[in-house]
Amino acid sequence: MAVRTIEWREGCVVMLDQRLLPTREVYRVYRDHREVARAIKDMVIRGAPAIGVAAAMGIALGARSLKPGGDLAREFDRLCRTFAATRPTAVNLFWAIDRMRRVFVRNQHRSLDTLRTLLEREALAVHDEDVATNRRLGTHGAALLEDGATVLTHCNAGALATAGYGTALGVIRAAREAGKRIQVIACETRPFLQGARLTAWELKKDRIPVTLVTDNMAGHLMQRGRVSAVIVGADRVAANGDVANKIGTYGHAVLAHRHAIPFYVAAPLSTVDLGCPRGDRIPIEERPGREVTHVFDRQIAPSGIKVVNPAFDVTPSELVTAIITERGVALQPLGRSLARLVRGAGAAAPVAPAKPARKSEPRRERRR
Ligand code: MRU
Repeated sequence: MAVRTIEWREGCVVMLDQRLLPTREVYRVYRDHREVARAIKDMVIRGAPAIGVAAAMGIALGARSLKPGGDLAREFDRLCRTFAATRPTAVNLFWAIDRMRRVFVRNQHRSLDTLRTLLEREALAVHDEDVATNRRLGTHGAALLEDGATVLTHCNAGALATAGYGTALGVIRAAREAGKRIQVIACETRPFLQGARLTAWELKKDRIPVTLVTDNMAGHLMQRGRVSAVIVGADRVAANGDVANKIGTYGHAVLAHRHAIPFYVAAPLSTVDLGCPRGDRIPIEERPGREVTHVFDRQIAPSGIKVVNPAFDVTPSELVTAIITERGVALQPLGRSLARLVRGAGAAAPVAPAKPARKSEPRRERRR
């Protein structure tokens, strides 16, 4: 099954409205770049790579209304800033905006028609390259999973979070395409329920065996030996290998470490931010409290209760077994390994595949 997350169709941006899944499949057509920016903010589309594609297409759409004779550079800058202000954590957004800016700078002396065509072409390239990247990344990651493995994942790092195929779910898809019997445990991912609504939906559609659990069940399942590996996506990877991903990821990493279960991050190199030295420098989006106090418009907490709603957390690099990229697998020490991959210097040494789940003893705490 190919999910059509986002498309450029006859000068419009078409997106599957992910807020309505899994019960309704509604495609929305956007003709104005401001509507595309609003759609990113409102989570019609979400997931780091998909947000990048949406911004690139939104900028290409906005370029259609640039006026000849005006201050083009200023207008284009304003356009880019509109998208940069949508969501702060996923670095793919800024990476895609930079790509569009570079095309503008190289070609601003050309006719407006040519400039618009080139920007549109770049946006389509961002889309198509993402699918190809995920497939390559998937092949590298598949080698880490043994036949019969049970993989726990958090949030949605699938076709819906990308232009197609997915990152974490791309690894699972690639392993299954290689003939391995992999099953998935999807954590529901409070408060926005990307796991329950999106991961469960796309895996079920693809007939990949998936079991849904609430987030607080992960520790119990690991303790009982029912998880072979954890694979998640990322919104931003700092230069030292710290990983920002959906809130709750850090907890899974700590639990996986305690039970000696490999914890993998699957992310394209466009998610690696070498300009950000450590995870504590990554801006963490704070979302409306209503996402916590309400579930589908039903109030589940007392009116006026104090709430915090950080959308992401940071998993320290030492808890990450490996980062799976399109150029190979980065191993510890992650900082050095990632820098090599970004420079195109090749992959790290191979790692042994994660075995099928079996009872794992917790690591013993050192007595003080
Ligand atoms: O708030 P969201 O739904 O945009 O958060 C998405 C995630 O945290 C994903 O795990 C991440 O973007 C990786 S997607 C390939």
